[in-house]
Amino acid sequence: MKVLFIGDVFGTRGMEALNKYLPEIKQEHKPNLIFVNGENIDRGFGISEKIYKELMVMGVNAVTLGNHSFSKRELVDFIDESNIIRPANYSDAVPGKGYITVKYNTKLVTVINLMGRIFMGDPLDNPFKRADEILEEINSDFIFVDMHAEATSEKIAMAHYLDGRVTAVVGTHTHVPTADAMVFPKGTMYISDIGMTGAKYGILGADKEIIINKFLTGMPQRIKESLATELQFNAVIMDTVLNKIKAINIYE
Ligand SMILES: [Fe+2]
Ligand SMILES: [Fe+2]
Repeated sequence: MKVLFIGDVFGTRGMEALNKYLPEIKQEHKPNLIFVNGENIDRGFGISEKIYKELMVMGVNAVTLGNHSFSKRELVDFIDESNIIRPANYSDAVPGKGYITVKYNTKLVTVINLMGRIFMGDPLDNPFKRADEILEEINSDFIFVDMHAEATSEKIAMAHYLDGRVTAVVGTHTHVPTADAMVFPKGTMYISDIGMTGAKYGILGADKEIIINKFLTGMPQRIKESLATELQFNAVIMDTVLNKIKAINIYE
């Protein structure tokens, strides 16, 4: 089985990059399942039902989130009926679910969304302990973990902690792809960060002038998505038969 995991899709340019590159990537790599981190997909903040439906039409099987999960409040109204998961280590009071199991032929494939706690503002339960609980609850053939976190140490620690117990741990959130796609000693595939999909010449997807001004003045700014036209597309393709993970990084 081949799984394509696309890193944080950011706003209008992110959707453009999906529409432009996904067909040819499907053609070349023939993924059986497609997972997308969509925490920034609606103009940088959260996800709307309209965009979720567009992703389903593209053939996306599940959408993971992160610290921007509920930036669009309407998610509360449709998350339960969707294939969208929010971090599993949010408190029980938060709507939605932290993992989803989809079927591929006779196989059960679970996707888990976890969020790191280092340099992240949200009040979160321990992601390591939450991972243990989920692995007790499920009985799947393949398990993919989106570890949405800032600190590479926390991501690598999670990969070692889950090594041999899950199929893959892939990092999201920093929006910058790392060059460390590898297989851990007990067989878990890993990358610290997949990178983002959207405008190439923004700052992590946001309008560069606004961010530079923030650094220059120290004043809070209302962040807007970058509408710069050149695109980037970052994903990983994971082959569960060969047990190989390979980064796909397109920069126009
Ligand atoms: Fe993000
Ligand atoms: Fe994030």
